[in-house]
Order: sequence, then structure tokens, then C-alpha cells
Amino acid sequence: MFSRNLIKKRILVTGANGMLGQSLCRFYSKQKNVRLLACSIDNESVFNGIDYSKCDLTKREAVKKIVLDFYPDYIVNAAAYTNVDKSEIEREEAWKVNVKGVEYLSETARIIDSRIIHISTDYIFDGKTGPYSEDDKPSPLGYYARTKLASENVLKISGVLYSILRSNVLYGSQSNCKIDFVMWLVNSLREEKEVRIVTDQINNPTFVEDLVQGISKVIEYNKTGVYNIGGREFLSRYEFSQIIADFFRLDKSLIKPVSTGELNQQARRPLKSGLITLKAETELGYKPLSIKESLAVMKKELLL
Ligand SMILES: NC(=O)c1ccc[n+]([C@@H]2O[C@H](COP(=O)([O-])OP(=O)(O)OC[C@H]3O[C@@H](n4cnc5c(N)ncnc54)[C@H](OP(=O)(O)O)[C@@H]3O)[C@@H](O)[C@H]2O)c1
Repeated sequence: MFSRNLIKKRILVTGANGMLGQSLCRFYSKQKNVRLLACSIDNESVFNGIDYSKCDLTKREAVKKIVLDFYPDYIVNAAAYTNVDKSEIEREEAWKVNVKGVEYLSETARIIDSRIIHISTDYIFDGKTGPYSEDDKPSPLGYYARTKLASENVLKISGVLYSILRSNVLYGSQSNCKIDFVMWLVNSLREEKEVRIVTDQINNPTFVEDLVQGISKVIEYNKTGVYNIGGREFLSRYEFSQIIADFFRLDKSLIKPVSTGELNQQARRPLKSGLITLKAETELGYKPLSIKESLAVMKKELLL
């Protein structure tokens, strides 16, 4: 007899060559009940053995074509212009990818009733009263943050069924994408370079595989709305670096504590931030790993 469970879910992952995109591809390529199509701005997928198409999200017709051709049940948007400081200067480019891209995805998704799972950030908050719940009032400090808040608003008025998963300080990068904070720190300390790490930015760093878990639960339970997806521990970036250095037995004396002000970064950062994950825990059964557990996974998988 015909069974709904045998029908494969069609999932389109955008930004598939990025940190989150690669982890999503790895996860969904192993799921038997999923037909996966990965796309990103590059000519080729960095992940072997999956269906891949090039698609620049800033090109309206290209977005329309890939969505209508593949006819996804779900679009997971892991593509973004993610350079926080450069966004202050390359404003047009950041807006095009982060806001117009979401607009183009949602206009076509609405026609065929695809659900969009979009990723946002704690940077939409000003970091005065964190950690934040899903209902707290956004107040972005920098341009990247403004684009991400605008992308959320695009979905809210789009008429599509959507979920927004907000995350912060993603780590757990794959071998072929930009390096994350953990890898950067491990590489720097192994090369005996001195690093300056801020003591006044507090949040709950998110292991990328935990975010994949959150996304998969939203899809599995057909949830809509906003969910915070963060790590189990709230701590400063300096404290995070100490745990990483201890775990990999690296020289902690090379880590110099500094304040955010001393770094003179182009974009302002929220200081007292982080995301309360109670809603995801209760509604999705979200259970993040501890930092040490996730570092152990990274060590094993990336041979760090
Ligand atoms: N990383 C974090 O700490 C963090 C924290 C909170 C939320 N987030 C959010 O999480 C999501 C995933 O972040 P991530 O760290 O995985 O980012 P990432 O590694 O920078 O990946 C984003 C991917 O999107 C691609 N892309 C850029 N412009 C594109 C375009 N026009 N069309 C199609 N693809 C395009 C990028 O390609 P190129 O590399 O060639 O530009 C990259 O492969 C983003 O929405 C981000 O805002 C990230």
C-alpha cells in the first residue's frame, strides 16, 4: 500500500559550500528519505557525491529557476554575506545577498508552497541585556546585523511558511571553508603566535552540528516561527579560548585578554549577548553538546 513515509522530502540547501551549508549537506546526504539539491555561488560543490547547481542568490531569475526546477518542500538558506566588518563598507553587496536573496527565494517559494528555513543571528540585538529570548526587541548595531534583521522581516511579510533559527558564534568548520574561531585559535597557538581575545563579549557559541540538529527538528516537526539555537555554555570569548587551549593542550600564555574597544573593529559588536534556547529545547527536543564534547567531535573528524 502507498505510504507517505516513502515519499522523499525535497530539500534545497543554499550556501552549500559554507560552514553550515557543508554540515547540512553531510547530514542530509545520508538521510534515505531526503532528495537533496545543494547550491552555492561557486561553480562546483566542495562536498563530493551530491547533486549540486551553481546559483547566485542575488540573481532573481536564477533563483526562480532553481526553485521551480527542483520544486523543494524545504529551502534551507545557509547562504549569506557573513563578513561582519566588510559589511560596513560593502553595504550594497551585503544587502543584495542577505536581504534581496531572501526576497527572491521567498517570492518563488510562495508560489509552490515551499517552506523556508532561514538562519539569523544574535547580532540583531544590541548586547545590553542579553542573553535574549525569541521575543526580545531587536536593535542591531552594525550593517551586517541590519541586513540580517531585514532578512527576518522579509520573511515575516512574505506570505511563505518559514522558520528563522537564530544562532551565534558558529564553530565546527569543515576543511574546505573559511576557518572558524576554534581552528583559527588552534592554528595560531600551534604556530606560537600571540593572540588578543576579548573578555567583554559574552554569548553561547554554537557547534555547527547542533544547528544542523535544530534545523532537522524544525523540518521533522514542521515547525514555523523563530527559534534560538545556541550552545549550552554562556561565556566570554576569552573564556572560550581558554577551554579550547586546555582541550588541545596549547600554550595559554599566548592568549592576551583585551577589551572590544581596544580591537578597533569596523563594526560594533553586541557585548552582553547570547541566545536562550528554552523554546527549542521544549518544542524541538533540542539538546546541544557541551563545548568539550563538541571539541572532541572536531578533534576526531578534522584530525585537529
Ligand atoms: N558564522 C557565525 O558565527 C554565524 C553566527 C550566527 C549566524 N550565522 C548565520 O548562519 C548562516 C551560515 O553562516 P556560515 O558561517 O556557514 O557562513 P559562510 O561559511 O560564510 O557560508 C555562507 C556561504 O554563502 C555563500 N554565498 C555568499 N554570497 C552568495 C550568493 N550571492 N549566492 C549564493 N551563495 C552565496 C558563501 O560563498 P563565499 O564564501 O564564496 O562568499 C558561503 O559559501 C548565515 O546566515 C549567517 O548569517 C553565522
